[in-house]
Amino acid sequence: MKNIQKIYEHAQQMTHKGNAASYIPALAKEDPTMLAVSLMSMNEQIELGDCKKTFTLQSVVKVLSFMVAANHHGIEEIMRYVDVEPTGDSFNSIVRLESNNNKPFNPMINAGAITIASLLPGESMFERVKSVTAFIEKILSKQVSVNNEVFMSEYHSADYNRAIAYILQANGFLKSDVEEALQVYLQLCSISVNASDLAKIALYLATNGQNSEAVCSKQVINIAKALMMTCGMYNFSGKFAAFVGLPAKSGVSGAIIAVVKEGEIEQLKGPIGIGLYGPAIDDVGNSVAGIDFLTEMSKQYELFCL
Ligand code: DON
Repeated sequence: MKNIQKIYEHAQQMTHKGNAASYIPALAKEDPTMLAVSLMSMNEQIELGDCKKTFTLQSVVKVLSFMVAANHHGIEEIMRYVDVEPTGDSFNSIVRLESNNNKPFNPMINAGAITIASLLPGESMFERVKSVTAFIEKILSKQVSVNNEVFMSEYHSADYNRAIAYILQANGFLKSDVEEALQVYLQLCSISVNASDLAKIALYLATNGQNSEAVCSKQVINIAKALMMTCGMYNFSGKFAAFVGLPAKSGVSGAIIAVVKEGEIEQLKGPIGIGLYGPAIDDVGNSVAGIDFLTEMSKQYELFCL
């Protein structure tokens, strides 16, 4: 089955194995049978399904907010607040907030991402959110906006995240107050994009920033990719690394970005960015069709990068 269209069709049949996220009411309305995949090299693109359909970044934004904060403060300072160790726990788990000297384990889980939200450059909620949207806008060469319906929906069902933020504050791992950190984090999760945008973001990582004017140090980009490889797919990250072997990050909207440093997929050659949207997610929080597509694609086109 060495044909990207066939891999897509097979993955699309897997959507019935998952459900759209229901814990955020605004996400529950998405069509669970949908699958959009965009693959982008420096000069070619393959689009499968409706790659212009918009959805929210959710946890995919954790990669970008980490990059903005780390590029601003330097990695040494950031690591005083957030570690780079995987947990194997679910994304909103609080169990480890009393180990590792109370420091959040990594920026890809909610605890680390809420700390990162408080460390973003700026003096207000607006400026901190803007620091990340401006970075995304540079990568995409277009404006992006926050989906207010999703943000409000999240904000009114944020008990767990609020609890995490209070524990972080009590332990000295928040630079802003609880409500501001929470609102910045949730607004960033609610940024609207489409599958083509995701592919361009992934290509930015694959090319170490060579496909746009957005500025980020190579060290920070490399650490972002290492975090994606070790912690990017929630508590499925180990299996994803073992059986797909690509740095990737997912979100509960069904979004996934995956990075091919060097590969060949049909007419695409060299660094390739992959953006995917399949809102039917599994129990862990990953798009079921997305996992199926990436697993088969990595196998067929020999993309395993380790
Ligand atoms: O914190 C939440 O519940 C969401 N806004 C983000 C969820 C997500 O995609 C999974 N997080 N790692």
